[in-house]
This record gives sequence, C-alpha cells and structure tokens, in this order.
Amino acid sequence: MIFTVAVDGPAAAGKGTISKALAARFGLAHLDTGLLYRAVGAKGGDAVAAARGLEPADLARGDLRSLEAGAAASRVAAIPEVRAALVAFQRDFARREGGAVLDGRDIGTVICPEAEVKLFVTASPEVRAHRRWLEVGGDAAQVLAEVKERDARDMNRADAPLKPAPDAVLLDTSDLSVEAAVAQAAALIESRL
Ligand code: C5P
Repeated sequence: MIFTVAVDGPAAAGKGTISKALAARFGLAHLDTGLLYRAVGAKGGDAVAAARGLEPADLARGDLRSLEAGAAASRVAAIPEVRAALVAFQRDFARREGGAVLDGRDIGTVICPEAEVKLFVTASPEVRAHRRWLEVGGDAAQVLAEVKERDARDMNRADAPLKPAPDAVLLDTSDLSVEAAVAQAAALIESRL
C-alpha cells in the first residue's frame, strides 16, 4: 500500500504529536521534515552544501529541538537551493511501500500535492507559544515573540510559503486535547483508506 498523509502547520500547533500518533495507529512510517531544516541550520557554514550533504547522523544531534535551532532552520528554509536539495528524499519517503506520514510546512502544497490525506493543523499564536514555553521555559513574552517571528518568516517567504493546500482539512487544536485532535485526524484517514 502506498498512502501519504501530509500534515502542515505553524510551529507548536501539534503537528508532531498528531503525526506520531497517526503513524503508530495506522502502522505508517513518520518523517518530521522540520528536523531536516534544523539539521541544515545547525551545521552552520554554507547551508546549500550542508543540505546537499545531509546524512542520517546529522539528524541525530541532541541540540536540534532548541528555539535557536528552530530560528536557524527557518532562515535556511527560505533558501530555494536548500529546499530543492531536500525534495527527493522527502518524496521517496512519502511514496514508500507501507505508507507514510510527513509533517512540515509545504508537504501538501509542494512535496506531496497528491497526498491521499492533507491536514493543516493550527492553533492561536498564544496557545502555541504557551505550549512551546512549557517545553523550553525561559521568558514567556520572548517565546511568543519568537513564535510570531518564525510564523511571519515561514508564511512570507517566496519559495514554498506556509499555507494550507486548497484541499487540506483544517484542524484548529487551540481548544482540543491531544486525544480529541488525534481522534479527528484518525477519522479523516479512516474515511479515505
Ligand atoms: O517544524 P519545525 O519547527 O521543526 O520546523 C523548523 C523550521 O523548518 C520551520 O520554521 C520552517 O522554516 C522550516 N520547515 C520548512 N518546511 C518544512 C518543515 C520545516 O520550511 N517542510
């Protein structure tokens, strides 16, 4: 079976949690595509060369989840040659036998426009910043400012900006528990299987 679930949305909307749960429930492989951009940003130096030479070990670094790594990721993600270097790996992953869930910013729009299921997961900036703050701590106002800054950079870049695919189903998790959000997403997949 080849079956692709594309999950897009802004930072800390719940994409990762929902994607992991869906992959486990339906026995699909899961790729967190943000990790690719985080790894490129964390390598430093020439981002295009870093993207072209990305290796599995680069994705295993321990410091990729920090706010700094997220900010660096969104800067290198605006470079078209960086994005181009990562396309083939993501498409191969998406069409692997057994099916896959990919989460990111441009999965439904650019990487897998033919995905069988497309979800666009959102939540208010305040809710997302609060969730991120629970993970990373620090100054809450600064976390909110960084979430808004990253949203703006991701939505306003010329190449593959963050936006819902026309046929994506919107899932606003602001007032949903994880269980309720996963249940809604799972029901959508079941209706398309
Ligand atoms: O999802 P995550 O917060 O790990 O993504 C880090 C950054 O990588 C995002 O802010 C975005 O700029 C970039 N990204 C992207 N396209 C994707 C996944 C992530 O541009 N498919």
